[in-house]
Amino acid sequence: MTGSALALRVVAAVPLSPTLKAFTFEAADGGLVPPSGPGAHVRLFLRRGAWSRKNAYSLVSNPEDRSHLSVIVRRVAQSKGGSAFLHEEVSEGDVIEAGLPANLFPVVRTARRHLMVSGGIGLTPFLAYIAAFEAEGTPWELHHFCRADERGAFAALLARYPASRVHIHCDADLAGLAQALACQPLGTHFYTCGPALLMEAAKDLALATGWPPVRLHAESFGAAAEGGEAFVAVLQRSGIEVMVGPETSLLDAIEAAGVEAPCLCRGGACGQCVTSVQDGIPEHRDHFLDAEERASNRLIMTCVSRAQTPRLVLDL
Ligand code: FES
Repeated sequence: MTGSALALRVVAAVPLSPTLKAFTFEAADGGLVPPSGPGAHVRLFLRRGAWSRKNAYSLVSNPEDRSHLSVIVRRVAQSKGGSAFLHEEVSEGDVIEAGLPANLFPVVRTARRHLMVSGGIGLTPFLAYIAAFEAEGTPWELHHFCRADERGAFAALLARYPASRVHIHCDADLAGLAQALACQPLGTHFYTCGPALLMEAAKDLALATGWPPVRLHAESFGAAAEGGEAFVAVLQRSGIEVMVGPETSLLDAIEAAGVEAPCLCRGGACGQCVTSVQDGIPEHRDHFLDAEERASNRLIMTCVSRAQTPRLVLDL
């Protein structure tokens, strides 16, 4: 292990369905993996020649078990390379560099009960949550929404848990969730992770049922927005100019130029990639900045936002 980077050896790469693959990693030096908590993610540094990506994946392994780390990766149809690389080019025995686990979606430890709503691959942080809840005996309930052809894969991941706690839905009917929201005891906290539409609908339902916003928690890993006009990004501290093509995100262009830039969700939701704008006007496409921050034109989320002006000068 060097600095903030980890060397992880792939000890299992197991397809769960045509689109889902589970990877288990051990520390390449044979030691324990670093500590993490339920809801934590790890960034995998994926490289092939000049191509590189740093993609974040929720840890699905039990945080108490430091013999390994596990993630599940969905192969996305419009993959720019990260998920396709992991599915097709990474196999047992390979060593991958990774960042230390970090947690932007922690469990609320004061909660007396936990109600979770996930959609598709959004189940992953909750697998670590559930392992922790089971270990400490905290009551929980999960409503998972997925496509019918992926039901079997997700059901297998949850098969060890009591059927009374796990509700898998293969349609968009929120009636069961509405019922659950209406009858939770005081002290319950509510978490959502998955596609934006599902998270919005679940949150709206909770608010309409009288849940206070302070007990609602969400994690979003979205897809980057569509491309747009080409522009030049001037990375002031690095002293270089980067051409951002119509189909490339600003973040991808910065990384391709070999400049380290913070990021996590790559979907405009987590706030990690916020960068100061020294000159030029951003075209905001994120879900993170508030109206005042947008209007100031002094900040940009590099993963999704672009430029209204031909040049954008950034503090990078
Ligand atoms: S990486 Fe999450 S908002 Fe940009």
